[in-house]
This record gives sequence, structure tokens and C-alpha cells, in this order.
Amino acid sequence: MSSPMASFALFFFTLIVLSSSCRYAIGSPNNKTFLSLASRIGINYGRFGNNLPSPYQSINLIKSINAGHVKLYDADPETLMVLSQTNLYVTIMVPNNHIIPIGADQAAADNWVNTNVLAHYPQTKIRFVLVGNEILSNNSDQDKQTWSSLVPAMRKIVTSLRARGIHNIKVGTPLAMDVLRTSFPPSSGAFREEVAALVMLPLLKFLNGTNSFFFLDVYPYFPWSTDPVNNPLDFALFQSNSTYTDPQTGLVYTNLLDQMLDSVIFAMTKLGYPNVRLAISETGWPNSGDIDETGANILNAATYNRNLIKKMTANPPLGTPARPGSPIPTFLFSLFNENQKPGSGTERHWGILKPDGTQIYEIDFSGTRPVPSPGSLPKPSNNVPFKGNVWCVAVEGASEAELQQALNFACGQSNATCAALAPGRECYAPVSLTWHASYAFSSYWAQFRNQSSRCYFNGLARETTTNPGNEHCTFPSVTL
Ligand SMILES: *[C@@H]1O[C@H](CO)[C@@H](O)[C@H](O)[C@H]1NC(C)=O
Ligand SMILES: *[C@@H]1O[C@H](CO)[C@@H](O)[C@H](O)[C@H]1NC(C)=O
Ligand SMILES: *[C@@H]1O[C@H](CO)[C@@H](O)[C@H](O)[C@H]1NC(C)=O
Ligand SMILES: *[C@@H]1O[C@H](CO)[C@@H](O)[C@H](O)[C@H]1NC(C)=O
Ligand SMILES: *[C@@H]1O[C@H](CO)[C@@H](O)[C@H](O)[C@H]1NC(C)=O
Ligand SMILES: *[C@@H]1O[C@H](CO)[C@@H](O)[C@H](O)[C@H]1NC(C)=O
Repeated sequence: MSSPMASFALFFFTLIVLSSSCRYAIGSPNNKTFLSLASRIGINYGRFGNNLPSPYQSINLIKSINAGHVKLYDADPETLMVLSQTNLYVTIMVPNNHIIPIGADQAAADNWVNTNVLAHYPQTKIRFVLVGNEILSNNSDQDKQTWSSLVPAMRKIVTSLRARGIHNIKVGTPLAMDVLRTSFPPSSGAFREEVAALVMLPLLKFLNGTNSFFFLDVYPYFPWSTDPVNNPLDFALFQSNSTYTDPQTGLVYTNLLDQMLDSVIFAMTKLGYPNVRLAISETGWPNSGDIDETGANILNAATYNRNLIKKMTANPPLGTPARPGSPIPTFLFSLFNENQKPGSGTERHWGILKPDGTQIYEIDFSGTRPVPSPGSLPKPSNNVPFKGNVWCVAVEGASEAELQQALNFACGQSNATCAALAPGRECYAPVSLTWHASYAFSSYWAQFRNQSSRCYFNGLARETTTNPGNEHCTFPSVTL
């Protein structure tokens, strides 16, 4: 998944009572047959964890939730082999660091296609090749070199596929909402200046000319959570009885996802490509997160994802206000909670399954089963921002060697961080690794949180609202 969309504008509403519930649409490319075959939701199968089931077990789990498509973040041969024994449609990805070489050299593209497509196709029903992942979200100089190679690389992959007689694999690239400079109201949607002419124009020309899709990673969770007090949660979860009317177009919105999708449609329209189809390469809602990540909980995740599936499997397709009736192929993020993803707590909690394969909440991708009532899940306490002190302590059962290393790191950043742990000082006793590490983590986090340090330490630390100190020793805390 992606980083939060920093540039996403806040959204505001005029509230109008509406009685109908929100229902929506998905489908898939090409012709009617393909559409009906594939009119099911896909799942992103990320593998950034050290406790995940094998590809074979994972694919069985994907079948058990009735997903129709699976998207890989690579072209792992073992997984593609397992998938050849299934009816799942498959999306594979070209890694970011292959874009420059492939963009420069048809032979590199041919090579990639031979190894990653031809070796598995058609037994494995590969339908999309996505080139790179959110490459426009990164402004480093190195990545800017990649920008101008993106469309040439996509063209060379298509050339390679067609030369091998493969006509039903589409080529795209997933982009995040931060490709937009403005997104609210939806009609104001416009691409960032530095990518508009350089990347978006050639990309749209390519997508339009190959009848492919604009793949979007789109998370209503992020704009909602920038201001959870004033942004209505119901509107982000497809549960709102209220609507928003775009003052420029008069289009009426019942949910935040449609607003975000339409802002991209308006941005494309401004560049002269009003008809490029949208697909959602990632969307979802985190089932847990850090204490300051309001709204990341199981009930909201279940509500968002169940309503999303209902919307996207509606027949006929619902589309969006700007494009009523258009099917939108959709991949939910993600199959598993992935414990090795860096970043804040939500990053490791987008899954619908735990690593042991059990569902975190009931979910079925076919869209044919009734949505379980939200009342069957515990009522969350974090839909409003937490106010109070938070400490950062060592987790139970961490390896001593790793804990010692993390303690050394935390104490090594400044002389002040662990001064109170010195022999004779107020926090020296009890002399235990866990106590000292917990103090060091809390102190480090309190000191450096404003420079984006996290209470994580590779999984050795967790946040707590229970004061870990004693009568002699006050642990530094973060005040939310
Ligand atoms: C539509 O797609 C299906 C499945 O790929 C294919 O068998 C069929 O020939 C296609 N029909 C047309 C009219 O292109
Ligand atoms: C951005 O680019 C830098 C340098 O190439 C890389 O280290 C980093 O992982 C990239 N970040 C993302 C989010 O892709
Ligand atoms: C997009 O593709 C359609 C269908 O092929 C074509 O009619 C249209 O002219 C294209 N748009 C642009 C701006 O090239
Ligand atoms: C929306 O309307 C339904 C049916 O009238 C009602 O049950 C529900 O409580 C309303 N939700 C909100 C958030 O007002
Ligand atoms: C800690 O203090 C020592 C001695 O005063 C100094 O040499 C060292 O640079 C300091 N370390 C840090 C990380 O500030
Ligand atoms: C970050 O917070 C620490 C501790 O509160 C403070 O000393 C420091 O000046 C802050 N740094 C920045 C860059 O805001």
C-alpha cells in the first residue's frame, strides 16, 4: 500500500437527507463475456511478513473468500505456478528498479516478458501487467529519472506481448492520489504540474490508445483521518444518509470514494482524455493502528470493505456520479496483515486475514452473500482522537539480543535520552533489560517523534496508555 496522500484536500459537505443506501459497481475490461466472467473483486496479495502461509495455502485462502482476481507485487514463479491450477485472473508487476532499463531497451522488455509472462501464460490467467508501483509519489532525483522512462517501458512491454501473440493482457501502472494537485471539489481535480505534461499526458495517450485502465490506489481512510472530528465517518464508510453536491457540476455524491475517483476523471478530462477507464489497484481500511491513528479498527474495516464489495459487484454496474454505469475493476488491499511493513501501525494492519489464515472479520468477495450486520462486531473506542499520554515500551517475549541492540540505538541518539538510566540515577533500578529498554524507547520516542521517529523498533516496541514508570522514575511520554 501507499503512503498517506499529503496533498489531498479536506472535504466538506452540504448536508441533504437521502434515504437510499449506497450501492455500487465493478466489472472488467473488453467485452460482455469477459465482463461477466470477471465481475468479481480482486485481492492484493502482499508478502511483506515473516509469518505468512505458503503461496499454495495463500491461494487456497484467496479462493475461499471467493475473490475473482489476485494482484501480486512481483511475478513470483512459485505463486504463478500455483495460480495456473486455479481460475483466478492474475495481475503481476514490474519492479520499480526495472523501469529505466526496460524503458531504454526492447530486449530488456522481451526478456522480462519471456521470464515472467511467457513462462506461465496462458495456463496462469495473467490479465494485467502493472509497471512500477506509485512511482510518481517519490520526489527523489533518482525516482524522477524513472518518471520519464515509465511510458516507454510500458510501450515496450506491450510491444513484446503483442509480438508474442498475446492480446488480452493490458498494461498499466498504479498511481496514488498524490498525483493530483487538487481533488476537492471533484470537478477541480487536476494533476500536479511537474507530472502533468511530462508523465500524465503520454501515460493517458498510452492508456487510451491501448484501451487499458488508469490504475488508482485510493484510500478514503487517509483524507478522512486528517480531520476525524469534522469529517463524517459515515460518508467515508458508504453509510451516509447525507450527500455532497459539487457546486461546479451539480453532481451529487453519497460517499468519499466516488469523490476521489471523480477527481481523477476530471483531471484526465482537463488533459483531453475524458474516457480512459478507471481501475482501483488498491483500496481498503486498516483494522488497527497506532493510538493516534483514529478510526483504524475492525468494525470500520469490515464496514468499508463489505460496502465496497457490495458497490463494486452491483449488477448492472453503478459507476460514479461522473460516469454512472461504468464498471470499475477493483482490488482490495490486502490479503494479510503484513508484519514487516515499515511505517506507522496501520501499515501492518490492512489485512482481511491474520497470518494463520483466519478472517479478522467475516468477508466474502462474491457479493452474493448478505453483509453481516455491523452489530456483530465489537464497538470501537478509537473513532474519535485519543487525548492523553502515550508511552512506548518493550513487547513481551522479545529476543534479548535484539532488545539490547535497540536499547543501544535509542540511547545512542543523544546523551540526554538515557541519562536517567545511569547507575545511581532515578531510573536505574530495577536493573532489567525490559525496564531499561522500555525507558529508552519512551524517552527516545518522546524526544524524536517530531522528527518522524516511531514507537516500533522493528516490532520490539508497542504503544501503551498505561504509565510504565514507578515512584522514583518518570518515563517521558508523548501527549496527544
Ligand atoms: C470476449 O471474451 C471472451 C473471453 O476472453 C472470448 O472468449 C470471446 O471470444 C470474446 N468475444 C468477443 C466478441 O471479442
Ligand atoms: C524513494 O526513493 C528513494 C531513493 O530511490 C528510495 O530509497 C525510497 O525507498 C523511495 N520511496 C518510496 C516510497 O518508494
Ligand atoms: C482515445 O481513444 C478513442 C478510441 O480509440 C479515440 O476515439 C480518441 O480519439 C482517443 N482520444 C485521444 C485524445 O486521443
Ligand atoms: C440513516 O438512515 C437510516 C434509515 O432511515 C437510519 O436507520 C440510520 O440511523 C441513519 N443513519 C444516520 C447516520 O443518520
Ligand atoms: C555525549 O557527550 C559526550 C561528552 O560530553 C560527547 O563527546 C558526545 O558527542 C555526546 N554524544 C551525543 C550523541 O550527543
Ligand atoms: C522535538 O521535540 C523535542 C522534545 O520535545 C524538542 O527538544 C525539539 O526541539 C523538537 N525538535 C523540532 C525539530 O521540533
